[in-house]
Amino acid sequence: MGKRRRKNKELILDIAEKYRGTGETLCSHFGECGGCLFQDISYENQLKIKAQYLNQVCADVLPKIENIHATEPFGYRNRMDYVAAFGCRGFRKRGSFKQVVDITECPLLQNNSEKVWKRIHNSIHEIEDYDYLSHNGFLRYTVLRQGFFSGETMLNFVVSEKKDFEIFEKIINSVDSLIKSSSILLNDSLTDLSFGPEIHTIKGGSITESFDLENSPHNNNKSIEFTIHPNTFFQSNSKVAVNMYRKIRELVSGRVLDLYCGVGSISLFCADKCESITGVDIVEDSINSAKRNMQLNNIENASFVCADARPFIKENSKSFETLILDPPRAGINPRMYKYLHSLSPSRIIYMSCNPATFKSDYENLKEQYNLESFEVFDMFPQTPHMESLALLVKRGNI
Ligand SMILES: C[S@@+](CC[C@H](N)C(=O)[O-])C[C@H]1O[C@@H](n2cnc3c(N)ncnc32)[C@H](O)[C@@H]1O
Repeated sequence: MGKRRRKNKELILDIAEKYRGTGETLCSHFGECGGCLFQDISYENQLKIKAQYLNQVCADVLPKIENIHATEPFGYRNRMDYVAAFGCRGFRKRGSFKQVVDITECPLLQNNSEKVWKRIHNSIHEIEDYDYLSHNGFLRYTVLRQGFFSGETMLNFVVSEKKDFEIFEKIINSVDSLIKSSSILLNDSLTDLSFGPEIHTIKGGSITESFDLENSPHNNNKSIEFTIHPNTFFQSNSKVAVNMYRKIRELVSGRVLDLYCGVGSISLFCADKCESITGVDIVEDSINSAKRNMQLNNIENASFVCADARPFIKENSKSFETLILDPPRAGINPRMYKYLHSLSPSRIIYMSCNPATFKSDYENLKEQYNLESFEVFDMFPQTPHMESLALLVKRGNI
C-alpha cells in the first residue's frame, strides 16, 4: 500500500474510533477478520464517518458533503474470494497478509452464495491448501460470484497445478441446484491472484447479471444483460452500481469516450443515449467480454478497443463531447492530463472508487472545468470504502 493510501486509511479509522460500539455485530469473525472494519458501528454512523473523512481530505477542493447515498448494509456483495492457506479457508486476518482466518459465515455475501459456502466449507477443508509464502500446495482460492438481480451463482476454484479434479466435481454435485457455473482456473505463478486461465469447466462457464435501465415499477422496463465469465471484472455491488449507471446515463450525450471501460458495462448501459460510444481498456479479456455483451444486447453504436488509455488518447484524432473516466484506485496517469486537455470534451463524468485520487485528478483539470456535481455512494458498507460520481463541465459550456 502506498504512503498516501495508508495515511488516508489511518485517517478514516481514526475518525471511526469514537463511534465504535454504536452498532450490533452480526458476524462471529468480526474483530479478527480483515474484511469488515466497521461492523460494530451503526450504519447511520458509518455514513457520518465517510462524510467527515471526505470533508477532511477534500475540504480545499470539493464542496462540503452533507449526504452519502445509503444502501442495504448487508447481503450486497456479488463476489467473495476465499483464500486457502495455513489450514484455514477464508479471509486475511485484520492487519496481516500472512495470516488467514477460517470463515464459516459472512453477512456481506448474498444469500445464495452464503448458503453454498456454508454447505461446502467442510469439503473445501479436505483439499490440500496452498502456502503462498513458501509456494507449496494445491488449492489457492475458492471464488463465489452471484448476480444480484439474476440470482445466478458461480463457484470457481483457483489451483496451482493441473491434477485430478474429481474432488471438485463431487463438491459441485453437492450444491448442484444452487450453482449455474463452475470452473477451475490455473494460477501457477508466484503472484497471489484469484484468477488465471480456465483449465476445466465443470458446469456452465458463465453467469448473467441483468440491469434495468430505469428504476420503474412497470414490467416493460428495458434491461441490459451482462454475461460474466470466471475471469471478467464486474462491480461488487450491483444495486449501487446500477444507481450510479442510471445517473451517468442521464448525463451522457453526443459522441462518448468511456476510458477504463472494463467489460463495457457503463458503455452498454448508456449506449441508447449517445450518438456513439467507444470503450477503451487495457485488459483484452474485458474488451472481448464487452464485445460479446454488445452483441447479446443488439447494441450497434458502441465499439471497444483494447489499449492503454494514455497512448490511446495521445494518438486519437476523433473528437468526443463526453468523456467517462472510471480509473483504477490510483487514479489517472498524471502524464495524461495534457492529452485530456487537447481532447477537450464538453463534459467529463468521473466515477471513482477513491475520492482522494479523484481530488488530485480534479485539481489538474479545474482550470478548464467547473465541478457541476459531486455525489458519494456507499458501495461498500461495513468497510471504509466508497464510490463517488462527479460531473465536470468545460468552462464556457452550460
Ligand atoms: C474501476 S475499473 C472500471 C470498471 C468499469 N468502468 C465498470 O463499471 O465495470 C478500472 C479499469 O481500468 C482498466 N485499466 C487499468 N489501467 C489501464 C490503462 N493504463 N489503460 C486502460 N485501462 C486500464 C482496468 O483493466 C479496469 O477494467
